[in-house]
Amino acid sequence: MKKYVHDILFKYFPRLWFVLKFRVENEYQNYIYCRKDLAAYGTTLKKYSTMEKVFSTLVKDKSFLEIGCDTGFFVLQAGKLGASNAIGIDRNTLALAKAEKARIKLGLANVQFRCALVPDLGGTINADVVLFMSAIHYMFSDKCGNHVLFETMNDFIVYLSSLSLQFLVIEFVHQNDAYALQLVAERFLKSGEYSEESFLGALRKFYPAVVDLGTTHYETRKLYLAGKSHGALGVFGK
Ligand SMILES: C[S@@+](CC[C@H](N)C(=O)[O-])C[C@H]1O[C@@H](n2cnc3c(N)ncnc32)[C@H](O)[C@@H]1O
Repeated sequence: MKKYVHDILFKYFPRLWFVLKFRVENEYQNYIYCRKDLAAYGTTLKKYSTMEKVFSTLVKDKSFLEIGCDTGFFVLQAGKLGASNAIGIDRNTLALAKAEKARIKLGLANVQFRCALVPDLGGTINADVVLFMSAIHYMFSDKCGNHVLFETMNDFIVYLSSLSLQFLVIEFVHQNDAYALQLVAERFLKSGEYSEESFLGALRKFYPAVVDLGTTHYETRKLYLAGKSHGALGVFGK
């Protein structure tokens, strides 16, 4: 009994306190941070696992930009792995405030968060590596308070191509994905403008080197690494 009380007071309670204090959890991202440590869990960990094998080579000494970064896990991780600078952009100020709190705690001077709306990011911005994760369906949405931001997949990829100097890491949310069906405008689903075929066709036009990194947190979501030049993916053994 004595040991039981001791364990609750000195082992489990401090751990619970720690997790509650340094946990970032919302609808989209889950991670814990403290001092120099940052660790994802849940769906954020599943997404990160898909790109982990290429991520550190991809970001080391490069500029990094994530559009639709939410509470900033991937931007913080890029900063930790030695990106020359890492910028996270989102429209959600509450999520960005959480990201900034974690950035300060982790002491990452190479990381910045900005509130902006696609497509106008508030001035000229670009980076060697751009990440666009779990957000493509918002770009073609007129449901749930969103606006259609791009009329064609081609226009959307042209936009991303103008922001990424070397690489684009992008998750395609399949047209049959529950969230795509919930968000994407009916006309894009009907015409096939929002489809995997149209997405890959546009991606390959602007990025000659494209590799499939696998599914992320759902079977209906696939992550692609795309390079701006032929042979760009050689460093990743792809
Ligand atoms: C599903 S969350 C994905 C977050 C993060 N990329 C991840 O994969 O964990 C989509 C994010 O995109 C942001 N977003 C959606 N439309 C946007 C827009 N037009 N401009 C900026 N951010 C946007 C949302 O606020 C949200 O944080």
